[in-house]
Amino acid sequence: MKHETVLKDEAIHYLNIKPNGIYVDGTLGGAGHSIEILKKLKQGFLYAFDQDDFAIAYAKERLKDFNRYQIIKSNFRYLKHELNRLGVDKIDGLLLDLGLSSFQIDDEARGFTYLKDTKLDMRMDQQQNVTAETILNTYSVDELAKIFFVYGEEKNAYKIANRIVLNRPMKTTMDLVKITDIVNRNEKGHSAKRVFQALRIAVNDELRVLEEVLKDAVEMLNPDGRLVVITFHSLEDRIVKHFFKEESTVNVPKNLPIMPIDSDLEILTRKPIYPSEEEYERNSRSKSAKLRALRRKV
Ligand SMILES: C[S@@+](CC[C@H](N)C(=O)[O-])C[C@H]1O[C@@H](n2cnc3c(N)ncnc32)[C@H](O)[C@@H]1O
Repeated sequence: MKHETVLKDEAIHYLNIKPNGIYVDGTLGGAGHSIEILKKLKQGFLYAFDQDDFAIAYAKERLKDFNRYQIIKSNFRYLKHELNRLGVDKIDGLLLDLGLSSFQIDDEARGFTYLKDTKLDMRMDQQQNVTAETILNTYSVDELAKIFFVYGEEKNAYKIANRIVLNRPMKTTMDLVKITDIVNRNEKGHSAKRVFQALRIAVNDELRVLEEVLKDAVEMLNPDGRLVVITFHSLEDRIVKHFFKEESTVNVPKNLPIMPIDSDLEILTRKPIYPSEEEYERNSRSKSAKLRALRRKV
């Protein structure tokens, strides 16, 4: 059930931990990155967010020999609010290692897998009301098709959505897989892969929370502070790439007689950083990982 930390050394390198700095791990998970940050802190402090009760319980156990940290059970979209409440308005670095921990994926009761017949859940935060079942049984054909098309890049989005609505109520993961097996019967990979990705993004509002946290975190960055983000699919990576580009570019209208000024933010990774061959071989879940980093200039 252990979660193997992805791009561990690379993430720590780009965070450039200062021993007295204030750091935020937005995705505590199995605490793999948090432990490495804490090892480098002397007078500094780490705030670690996760919205999953199981991840927090597991991480607490792994962090029991450290003391310069506080765990915050919250969606990282509330990072600014939660930190401000604790009197923190500036940070030296934020790490986001997006997606799920292995123990969430492997726990079939959480409903993230299309390989087992289980309930349609997919919530990272077990206190949240909306589940995959809610979405599948209450959204219109158009709304469902949009989710599958936009978040899953599923070309048969409309056909799948239509069949779902005709076959309601959808109760288990296999109710959904039966439909994708028919519609995507000529697929090479698993017929439900893209639909499950799309539903997971929708249930957890994953793209919007990413946009929100990036905006807030960059405002809170101290000089030489870093934003380091590890993504696992192209939709997330696109958001990070565009955000970093926007923030590090100053657009001065061409017809105005003013000297262009430099942005005080710079991209540290012109190209994304990928796991090494050795990591790919050791951990198949690292295969789709990409890391990007942004720095506030001094
Ligand atoms: C890939 S794991 C992190 C693993 C961790 N870096 C490690 O090395 O052990 C992602 C974790 O972030 C949490 N998570 C994902 N999105 C979140 C969000 N919007 N707010 C809070 N936690 C989130 C998940 O519950 C999961 O535990």
